[in-house]
Amino acid sequence: MNYYTNKTVWITGASSGIGEALTYELVKLGAKIIISARRQEELKRVQQQAGAANVYVLPLDLEAADTFPTKVQEAISAFSQIDIMVHNGGISQRSKVKDTLPAVQRKVMEVDYFSYIELTRLLLPHMQQRQTGHIIAISSVMGKIGTPMRSAYAAAKHALHGFFDCLRAEVWRDNIKVTLIMPGYIRTQVSLNAVTASGEKLNELGKNIGHGYPADKTAQQILKAIRKGKFEKYVGRPFSQEWMAVHLMRLFPSLAIKVFKNAVPE
Ligand SMILES: NC(=O)c1ccc[n+]([C@@H]2O[C@H](COP(=O)([O-])OP(=O)(O)OC[C@H]3O[C@@H](n4cnc5c(N)ncnc54)[C@H](OP(=O)(O)O)[C@@H]3O)[C@@H](O)[C@H]2O)c1
Repeated sequence: MNYYTNKTVWITGASSGIGEALTYELVKLGAKIIISARRQEELKRVQQQAGAANVYVLPLDLEAADTFPTKVQEAISAFSQIDIMVHNGGISQRSKVKDTLPAVQRKVMEVDYFSYIELTRLLLPHMQQRQTGHIIAISSVMGKIGTPMRSAYAAAKHALHGFFDCLRAEVWRDNIKVTLIMPGYIRTQVSLNAVTASGEKLNELGKNIGHGYPADKTAQQILKAIRKGKFEKYVGRPFSQEWMAVHLMRLFPSLAIKVFKNAVPE
C-alpha cells in the first residue's frame, strides 16, 4: 500500500508528455486513472502501454466547455469517485504581443485557464459532498515570470495562481487540498504544439525543451509534491536556469525583471 493505492485520479492532457508520464507512474502505484485529451487513439495507446484495466479513456476537448457537465459526470461514474484532479492539458505560444491575434490570446486562455476553472467548479460539489479531494493545476515557471514571446501563455499561467490560491482559501475546511505545479523545461511535445501569432502550430522542437528534464522524472516529482500536500512546487531539473528564475523573482524581483527582459526567445 502507498499513498496512491486505490485512489482515483483524473488527468487531462494525458495523450502525451507530462500527463502520459503521470499515467504510467500512477499505474505502478496502484491508482485508478481517468485519462483525457482530444486524440482518442493516442489515449488508447497510453491505456494499452499502461497495461492496466484501471485506466479509463475519456476524450475531452478543453475548448468545448458545453460538454464539461457530461464529461465530469462520466469521470465520476468511471470509478464512482474522483480523489485527485490533475489539470494538465495545455498549449504554449511563441509570438510577440504586437503580432498576436486576439483570437490566439483567447484560445490560449480558454485551454490553459478557463477550462481548468470550469472543470473545477463542476467537480467541487462531488468533492465537497465527500469532504475530501485534491486539485492540481499544472502551471509553469512562466506562471511566475515574464519573458519575450510568451504573453498569452504567461498570462494564463499567472491567472492560475490567483484563482487556485483563492480556491485553496475557500475549500480547506472541506478537506480539499490545492497544489500548483511549476515545471521548468521538460522534454515533451509542448513547443511542437505551441501556437504562433496567427494560431498555426509552431512545429519546432525548441533547444531548451529538446534538452529538457525527462517527463518520467518530472511525473515522479509531481506525485511527491501531491503526496506531501505542497501549496506550490517547482518541478524539473534542480539548480537549472528555470529553477534560478523562480527563486530570483521571489527574492530579488527588480534584478529578475532586468535579467528576463534580455532573455533570448527560442
Ligand atoms: N514541457 C514543458 O517544458 C512545460 C513547462 C511548463 C509547463 N508545462 C505544462 O505542462 C502541461 C503538459 O504539457 P506537456 O509539456 O506535456 O505538452 P504536450 O506533450 O504538448 O502535451 C499537451 C497535452 O495537452 C493536451 N491538449 C492540448 N490542447 C487540448 C485541448 N484543446 N483539449 C484537450 N487536451 C488538449 C494534448 O492532447 P491532445 O492534443 O490529444 O488534445 C496533450 O495531451 C501543460 O499545461 C504545459 O503548459 C510544460
